Amino acid sequence: MDRVQTVLCQQLGCRYPIMLAGMGGVARHRLAAAVSNAGGYGVLGMVREPVERLRYEVSAMRRLTDKPFAVNLIPAATPRQQLMEQIDACRALAVETLVFFWDVDRPLIDAVRQDGFRVIHQVGTERAAEQALKAGVEALIVQGHEAGGHVHGLTSTLALLAPVVAMSDVPVAASGGMASGPSIAAALAVGAQAVSLGSAFLTTHEANAHHHHKRRVVQARVDDTCYTTRFARNWPIAAPVRVLENAVTRGDYDRIEDPNHILGSQDNEPVYLFSTDSPLADAEGRVDDMALYCGQSCGQVSDIVSAGQRIENLMREVASVSAR
Ligand SMILES: Cc1cc2nc3c(=O)[nH]c(=O)nc-3n(C[C@H](O)[C@H](O)[C@H](O)COP(=O)(O)O)c2cc1C
Repeated sequence: MDRVQTVLCQQLGCRYPIMLAGMGGVARHRLAAAVSNAGGYGVLGMVREPVERLRYEVSAMRRLTDKPFAVNLIPAATPRQQLMEQIDACRALAVETLVFFWDVDRPLIDAVRQDGFRVIHQVGTERAAEQALKAGVEALIVQGHEAGGHVHGLTSTLALLAPVVAMSDVPVAASGGMASGPSIAAALAVGAQAVSLGSAFLTTHEANAHHHHKRRVVQARVDDTCYTTRFARNWPIAAPVRVLENAVTRGDYDRIEDPNHILGSQDNEPVYLFSTDSPLADAEGRVDDMALYCGQSCGQVSDIVSAGQRIENLMREVASVSAR
């Protein structure tokens, strides 16, 4: 399939309605550039990253692609001063689009839109969708309960997508539970203008996830994930996440009293027990006991391939569903 154009694709400047979910630590320049170069829409996952890292990732991205891309930030999970530094850095680097997630911060959205940024907001409830629309965002991503990583709501993707599409005067993308052509075709049929995929891209060569994490996602069956608030360190509130079951979700660490128990290290920093940081490519230590984010879409992923191959396979499957 050469091209599937939706209004959102036209606005974002991509060939296919496939967005990379902004996965913190995992969606760095290699993965985001590979997605953009293959016709999707690359999103750099920069939550809580120091500005030096953000500047480096945006510059490295631009060396690998001349295609459009966005930067993902999570205002509610980032100390205010750091967040403002991140946004200043994006402005100085002429980043065009910000993808926000979690609570809708209307004054912040007003301010960045006045600065000329396009804002896409990922939401997990109908109420948050209403708030984001009132704040004037240019597009929404509806995240369902099936999603991997931090999960904002309790409603499934397609059930939430339908009313949000109906109420929305801007394009809506869908996220959570999709990693195959038929599931993407279903979301498009319900009115999504694109899909935003996490687990399907975590399991690619270019993703900056630890190989063990990629392998666990590929091997997982659809009901091997769990929804938990155990991984709460670094977030201001105990926000729920969807992960693969491991020693932490089974409660094996519940008797540990040291609040600074270290599981290992990555990016030259310690990884603490219950940290929200998932194991990255250079992680060392008890990798299986870290936050192994994974969506229920894992039931549709069976191999680790390149991001370009992933997009090609998905679009071939979408075409075959459309032909039927
Ligand atoms: C490893 C991982 C990390 C994630 N990190 C973020 C993040 O930093 N920011 C964000 O907006 N969403 C994040 N998410 C959630 C995704 O945006 C998306 O909603 C989710 O991956 C969709 O479910 P799927 O994995 O079944 O595709 C993350 C998801 C995963 C799997």
